[in-house]
Formats: sequence, structure tokens, C-alpha cells
Amino acid sequence: MKIVLLLLAAYFLGGIPWAYLIAKWTRGIDIRQYGSGNVGFTNALRTIGKGPAVLVLIGDIGKGILAVLLAKYFGNPTIATLSGLMVVVGHNYPLVLGFRGGKGAAAGFGALLALLPFEALLAVLVWGITVFFTRYVSLGTILGAFTVPIATLILQEDINYIAFGVLGAAFVILKHHSNISRLFKGTERKIGEKK
Ligand code: G3P
Repeated sequence: MKIVLLLLAAYFLGGIPWAYLIAKWTRGIDIRQYGSGNVGFTNALRTIGKGPAVLVLIGDIGKGILAVLLAKYFGNPTIATLSGLMVVVGHNYPLVLGFRGGKGAAAGFGALLALLPFEALLAVLVWGITVFFTRYVSLGTILGAFTVPIATLILQEDINYIAFGVLGAAFVILKHHSNISRLFKGTERKIGEKK
């Protein structure tokens, strides 16, 4: 029973659509109608400005951290890794938005930070270097996500953490399918580009 409650808590925490809520509260808009249409930090940065976007980032990373910490406190390491995945599922497929949510990067990063801080540091480094040189946030996210399962394997982490790395990266990368197709077509938006 405890595991079900903790996983439900992680799903519903993940499902708090901060980008949607903050765009509504600060600009009175439905973020899904603007920019890439994504309910996430990058699209918030593009459409509602830096300040509100930072709040979105804090909210999304925060819910990832909280879901894992709750599961660590009331459950065990296996439930914590499952909660880390559930928070991404909740973010990507939130009940309150008809199961059409974001791409799981910030929420997944929060969960990663609480589970595997060293891998989180590596992922953010890869993300930062990629974004700095290419200006594509999506490419940074995809490469940063790839880093996690590879690092967990090289570092011979516990099987729970390797599974988290593989599945979490898959959830994030698969949700970037439209970005991947735009990257191949050369039509992906660079950071700072509105349209
Ligand atoms: O985490 C989302 C980011 O990688 C891409 O966002 O709005 O450009 O699709 P967006």
C-alpha cells in the first residue's frame, strides 16, 4: 500500500504543470498555444520571459527532488528510483492537462539530483556545453539525458539506478521526437529565438 501511495504522490507531483500555471498567472496565456507549445522551462523562457521561466525551472526541478526525497524517507531506495520515474511520467502525461504535458527534462533532473548527484552534475555539464556551442536546448537535453545511463554503467551503480538511468533517459528522449525531427530538418529553434 505504501508503495502505491508514494508512486501516486510522485505521479501527481510530476503532474503539477508549472509552466502552464505560471504562464496563466503572469501573462494570462495558455503556453500550449505559443512557441513550441511545450509545457516546460525552455518554452516558458521563450514565451513568458526569464523571471517566470526561472520559477518554472525551480518548480519542475523541485517536484522531482521532492518526489524522490518523500520516497526515500517513507520507502526505500527501490521505491525512490520508481518515484523518480513516476515524477517524469506525471510531468510528461499529467492528468490535469489531458495527459499532454512536457518533456520531463527538469523534473527528471530534479529526481536525478536526489538519486545520483554525480550523474546529475555530468548531465548538466554535457547540457551546458552543448547549449553553449550549438544554442539548441533540446540537443543539450537529449545528450545530457544520454549521459546518465552511460555514466551509471561506467560507474557500476546499483541495478536500480542503472534502470532509472536507462528508462528515465528513454522517457525524456522519446518525448523530444518533434525536436529531433526539427534538428534533422534544420528548423529547430535556437535559444533566444521566439518563432
Ligand atoms: O526540455 C525541453 C527542451 O529540451 C526543449 O524544449 O520548447 O524547445 O521543445 P522546446
